[in-house]
Amino acid sequence: MKLVHTASELNLLVAEAKAEGKRVAFVPTMGALHEGHLRLVDLALEQADFAVVSIFVNPLQFGEGEDFDRYPRTLEADCEALEARNCDVVFAPSAAEVYPPDGTPGKATERAGIIGATFEGAARPGHFDGMLTVVGRLLQLVDPDVAIFGQKDAQQVFMVRKLIGAKFKDVELVVAPTVREQSGLALSSRNRYLTPSQRETAVVISKALRAVDFAAKHGLPASFCIEAGNTLFAGEPEAKLEYLAVVDPQLFKPVTDKFKGEALVIVAAEVGGVRLIDNQTIEIREQDA
Ligand code: PAF
Repeated sequence: MKLVHTASELNLLVAEAKAEGKRVAFVPTMGALHEGHLRLVDLALEQADFAVVSIFVNPLQFGEGEDFDRYPRTLEADCEALEARNCDVVFAPSAAEVYPPDGTPGKATERAGIIGATFEGAARPGHFDGMLTVVGRLLQLVDPDVAIFGQKDAQQVFMVRKLIGAKFKDVELVVAPTVREQSGLALSSRNRYLTPSQRETAVVISKALRAVDFAAKHGLPASFCIEAGNTLFAGEPEAKLEYLAVVDPQLFKPVTDKFKGEALVIVAAEVGGVRLIDNQTIEIREQDA
């Protein structure tokens, strides 16, 4: 495995791989890698012959007062873990490499639009513009055949799908399922901020998703399904629910009670000052007879 910091070194390695007829997969990350990220690398190597992982904590997608400065930076441990998963190249660029000439991210150059201002975008104004800007920039630099994203960030996947469809038509987008602890808690780099008891509290998030799923399977309309999830949060005051919604996966807009079919439950909650998100695909059935 090679660790490179510049686009020119990266370009050379990717060009060599392509010249050998290899299909190149790309996994963008901000480091602080956990098993969820490493599964993305496994999937990358199922989809392609050569895996590039980027590690870059993108200042442009953090708002004021968010955890940019304290976001864990663990390059050495990340590289060890990636090497063990047969990653080919780790691209860990400086901000100047990503945002030339001086590394100061100016304004985001991608626009996430109306959906980018809802849910995560409402809580984190400008987050999706910044995320799309860096993803666009990294896709230009890496020039992969396939890009792998985790389903845990469902709204991000929705946005990236649009970006790739509009500007990177030759790149295939592959979405990997969320990896969970046995408790149901979705793996996240931010879980490391939680104390053991907060970790237990945070399990309410996945429990609420399952409650919504259960109600949907019994044909309850969306608003009743959401209520089933809300009830679990009501019993867990240490978890502050920010939103729990059922959206149409094609539009990322809340569904009405008439909606039947595949939908996505999305949730964000704060536990011990740590914002956690999760989601689950559900099937809203016709009401039981
Ligand atoms: O999901 C993430 O870790 C980030 O949003 C990404 C895609 C690496 C862009 O900075």
